[in-house]
Amino acid sequence: MSSNDSTSTSAFAKHVAKGLSTPLAHLSSQYIYDERGSKLFQEIMELESYYLTNCEYEILEASASKLRHQFSNGGKERFELIELGAGDGLKTKLLLKDFTENATDFSYRPVDISDDILNELEQGLSQQFPNLEVDPLHASYMEALDSLQDSSEVRRVILFLGSNIGNFSFDAANEFVGKIADRMQTGDYFILGIDLRKNPRTILAAYDDDLGITAKFNLNLLTRINRELNGNFDVESWAFYPLYNPETGEVRSYLYPKTDQHVSIPQLGIERTFTIGEVIHTEVSRKYSKTELAILGRSHGLERVDILQDKRGYFADVIYRKK
Ligand code: AVJ
Repeated sequence: MSSNDSTSTSAFAKHVAKGLSTPLAHLSSQYIYDERGSKLFQEIMELESYYLTNCEYEILEASASKLRHQFSNGGKERFELIELGAGDGLKTKLLLKDFTENATDFSYRPVDISDDILNELEQGLSQQFPNLEVDPLHASYMEALDSLQDSSEVRRVILFLGSNIGNFSFDAANEFVGKIADRMQTGDYFILGIDLRKNPRTILAAYDDDLGITAKFNLNLLTRINRELNGNFDVESWAFYPLYNPETGEVRSYLYPKTDQHVSIPQLGIERTFTIGEVIHTEVSRKYSKTELAILGRSHGLERVDILQDKRGYFADVIYRKK
């Protein structure tokens, strides 16, 4: 999301005004991704402990040609690849490479809420794949769903990778998959990347790196409030606390004050003291069991044609086809 885009800034302002007014303060992780936040997430993806990216990379690398055959119906048909939350497109470039090297008739539409990352992606793509048809869309997930409403002549392949769906609760995730399914036409594909439940220490370690990059990533919410909304958070006086609950499958992330903190954001009418022991909830990163995975997307007219997994069985990419 662009920092000088007035409509999105006001959505951010509204969110912050509400989120900091409730007894348990909450700031949504979707607002971490300004230019700095997007950079920090790229650093997270390079961490050894953040296994998710490597797992999905392994899966897509092994399956690119199989997916090409599926999407193009054996090389016979054109398709449109639409990626929700494309980010830097690192994993998708694997597919783009295979598809372009095999004379595949398709176009690519990356969708992201970060303008900066989208511009960077577009530039990189035009260098690496000069002949690729790219049509980026700067939008939220909901706006992107709206853009799917009109029917399409060509088959659509919708990518939602990287366990981005983990930011939703189970019910919200199911609802989201339903919304996508409703906008799909017979023969369209939906590829959903999901992090699976595993050793709880492995999961927690992915969100609690020693270099403190995940901490900086979450703390960026406070930095962004200071910059865009003239807040006075003393960012140095706040710290990061992630927690994995193997019962619910949720990593929940929090920011806490190291000493009592008075926060004022005059333009939002916010004056609040956070005493030691209080927290701001920032993110949910939900993990799925195989059983939960089987329920997801059921009853939305989606047929599960494949479940791709990495060798360690940490991550899954589910291939759905609209009946
Ligand atoms: C981009 C939402 C998939 O939840 O794993 C990484 C974001 N947060 N480390 C995730 C994130 C902390 C990430 N998603």
